[in-house]
Amino acid sequence: MSALLEVENLVVDYRLRGRTRFRALKGVSITVKPGECVGLVGESGSGKSTLGKAVLGLAAVASGRITFDGKEITHARGRARRGLASDIQVVFQDPYGSLDPTMTVGEVLAEPLVVAGTSRVQARAVVTGMLDRVCLPADAVHRYPSEFSGGQRQRIAIARALVRRPRLVVCDEPVSALDLTTQATILDLFVDLQRETGVSYLFVSHDLGVVRRVCHRVSVMYQGEIVETGLTRQVTQDPVHPYTRRLRLASPVADPERQAERRATWLGLRD
Ligand SMILES: Nc1ncnc2c1ncn2[C@@H]1O[C@H](COP(=O)(O)OP(=O)(O)OP(=O)(O)O)[C@@H](O)[C@H]1O
Ligand SMILES: [Mg+2]
Repeated sequence: MSALLEVENLVVDYRLRGRTRFRALKGVSITVKPGECVGLVGESGSGKSTLGKAVLGLAAVASGRITFDGKEITHARGRARRGLASDIQVVFQDPYGSLDPTMTVGEVLAEPLVVAGTSRVQARAVVTGMLDRVCLPADAVHRYPSEFSGGQRQRIAIARALVRRPRLVVCDEPVSALDLTTQATILDLFVDLQRETGVSYLFVSHDLGVVRRVCHRVSVMYQGEIVETGLTRQVTQDPVHPYTRRLRLASPVADPERQAERRATWLGLRD
């Protein structure tokens, strides 16, 4: 199957303090097929969010290519970029930061539709269906994001991302701010929505346990480069790269005895 998203040899530089430049991505390649969830794991600062931003047009690309559905979008700006909004959407870690607190949930969800030319009556019907789909009460339309719990707010953010039926959603640590039980239910929602709609996810996380639950394939980033890519089971259970092995051993397990054993192995891996 041909790729929906194809990132080839991507280089992104940040300017720091005027002129100094920091190379955040050093030639990164990744593909996401239709209906696939590709995880992006790695330690803090490895460049995961930068890759997501580049796909969304929020980080300037120095070299390399980003292709979506066969069309090059590397430097898409203005009208071309706005046109992509119906196909490429995003869910961030902190829905507080991404949901306008002065708008009701109904307005938050209807806005992308109205901007795209849908009538208000039609938008209302779509919003009602979407709220039901993400298991929020119908009366949520009249309430404000601040009146909901963290997990519910993330459901609102997911509903907003999916309301225009995009083909790709960049998910940047979408469950990292939630407690473990809520994480599990939100991850299940991501999986269910993918099954129903065939949407693809580029799923950024620092947590291998999260990635194991939702991703088909995983790429591991380390200092601006992808050091390993493979099927989720292979990468999370039997990693090849030493960095991935350390990452795997650093992710907590429930059993204290196994945890102690793993901690000893992990300490042994450090030099
Ligand atoms: N706007 C910016 N200006 C300068 N440097 C930046 C900027 N944004 C990110 N960086 C740097 O680029 C590198 C990659 O950052 P990025 O946010 O992509 O990491 P990350 O893997 O998402 O980390 P985390 O897991 O902490 O979210 C980091 O060293 C960061 O300090
Ligand atoms: Mg990040």
